[in-house]
Parts: sequence; structure tokens; C-alpha cells
Amino acid sequence: MPDVPVHHIFGLLAVGAIVLSSGTGSTGQMIASAQASVDIISDDPEVARSLAALLRASRSVISANQSLINNPDIGDKGLSGRSILALAISNYKKTSGIDITTINPKSRQGSLIKAEMDSIVSVIDMARPSIDKKGTAFKGFIPAIFARLVGEEFTRRANGKATIKVTAPDELVRNRKARPDALESDVITTKFLKPDWRPGEPYSVTDSANGKTTFRMMVPDYYVQSCLDCHGSPKNSLDITGYPREGANLGDLGGVISITLYR
Ligand code: HEC
Repeated sequence: MPDVPVHHIFGLLAVGAIVLSSGTGSTGQMIASAQASVDIISDDPEVARSLAALLRASRSVISANQSLINNPDIGDKGLSGRSILALAISNYKKTSGIDITTINPKSRQGSLIKAEMDSIVSVIDMARPSIDKKGTAFKGFIPAIFARLVGEEFTRRANGKATIKVTAPDELVRNRKARPDALESDVITTKFLKPDWRPGEPYSVTDSANGKTTFRMMVPDYYVQSCLDCHGSPKNSLDITGYPREGANLGDLGGVISITLYR
């Protein structure tokens, strides 16, 4: 995965360098840097970061196990929801030093992380009959689909408190469900696609939706070599999943993890 190491993401928070500014064309308002006003702003940035980081940590496990998943000769692959989650928790710890299982489950962060952990387990367990199917090679259980399903499951379980979505620049979107909303589109074109945007730097802004104040955080994701089998060249030729390739290049912005917290 093109994942920016989680410690980098947390590092940004630690130094207060996280970009918290208004998005052109959005209803967002300027909010102060995390460090400058720790006492008046909530733990929104940390909560959003951890939700995005856990999605990446778990998606990396699915990525690392693609050849096992697609091995037609093995039935039971031992990839249970619990075992994948354990690997994701360990990935998370390796990159950030934080053991997410120790976050107080009664806190907002703890309950949302728990909802995400439960979503990971449930998505894997539902896919297991297909993952364990002997005789079939490509199962279609790729990291992007896993991440979308976890986002959908989490959004249901978080019950109006938060959403996780993976989106992408409009011209790259394969699944309609992943289409960027107005704010995401705006951030992609006016921030992430600008040559001077620091690679991997998240963007956060307060906004509103359904009469509630929202905290939005978007984390850019870039194509690494393994992505180009499907998203690379020749443009418009079909990949193994049956979608036309986008003709993308190494290091191009491939997607965005978009977290929304409702206050
Ligand atoms: C095996 C082919 C394959 C590989 C390899 C692959 N993708 Fe995809 N990608 C897809 C498919 C198929 C979808 C649509 C998934 C769905 O239906 O939700 C997708 C969707 C996405 C999405 C969600 C937005 C959308 O278009 O629906 C992002 C972001 C993305 N891919 C990025 C990546 C990145 C980054 C990598 C490398 C780390 C990668 N992909 C590797 C096939 C692939």
C-alpha cells in the first residue's frame, strides 16, 4: 500500500503542523492549529487520524495476503476476522507506537475505534467463504473493496457519529459509491493535486451537514507499483477485475481516505 507511515501522521499532530484551514468554496471555517489551542478544540483531529490509520493498517494486511487469498490450491487459509484484526493492530502499533486496544472504550475515540475493529472482523468473516474457496484463483477481495466494505460497515455501526469513506479524484472513480462530494472534490483539486502539496499531508476543516457541525479530515493516498497492475497502462485496457485501466503513474494521487465526525 502507498501508506504514509502512521507515525508520520501522528508526528504531524504532535508538532501541530496538521493543516487546519478553510477550503475554498466550502462552508468550512478556519480553526486554530491543534497545538495552539489544545484547550478549546476537541480531540477531533486525533480521533479522525486514528480511524484513517486503522483503515490503512488493516488494508495493508489484505494487501500483503493477496497471493494467499488468490491461491486456488488452499481451502482454509486461516484468515479469520480476528486474525486479520490482530495483524492490523500490530501494524498500527509498529508504525505509531500506539496500542489501540488500550484506548478507553468509553471514550468517543475508544467507541469509534471499537466500531471500526468490529467492522473489520465482520467484513472478513462475511468474505471468508469466498476467500477459502478451493479451485478459484482471483477472488476479487482486493484492498480497495475491503476498505470500501469496512467504511460502509463502520458508517452503519457508528450510527450518525462518524463516517469513513474512501474516495478518489472524479476521473479515477470506479465505484459510484466512492464519488467525492463537493468538499472532497474541492480539497482534491485545490490542495492534494497542487504540486506544492506536501505528499501525505492530511487536510482538515470544520464544516456542517444535516444541521450539525462536522469535522472533516482527508488523507491523500498515492499509487505504488502494485497498484499499476490495475490502475496503470495501457490506458483503457481491462485489468483483472474487468475495469479499464486509468493510465496512472507511480506516485500519482490515487485516492483519499475521508473521515467525518459529527459533533
Ligand atoms: C487487482 C486490481 C487492483 C489493484 C492492484 C488496485 N486496485 Fe484500486 N480498485 C480496483 C477496483 C476493482 C476498484 C473498485 C472497488 C469497488 O468496487 O469498490 C478499485 C478502487 C480503488 C479506489 C476507490 C475509489 C474507486 O475508484 O472506486 C481507490 C482509492 C483505489 N482503488 C486505489 C488503489 C491503490 C492506491 C492501489 C495500490 C495500493 C490499488 N487501488 C490497487 C482494482 C485494483
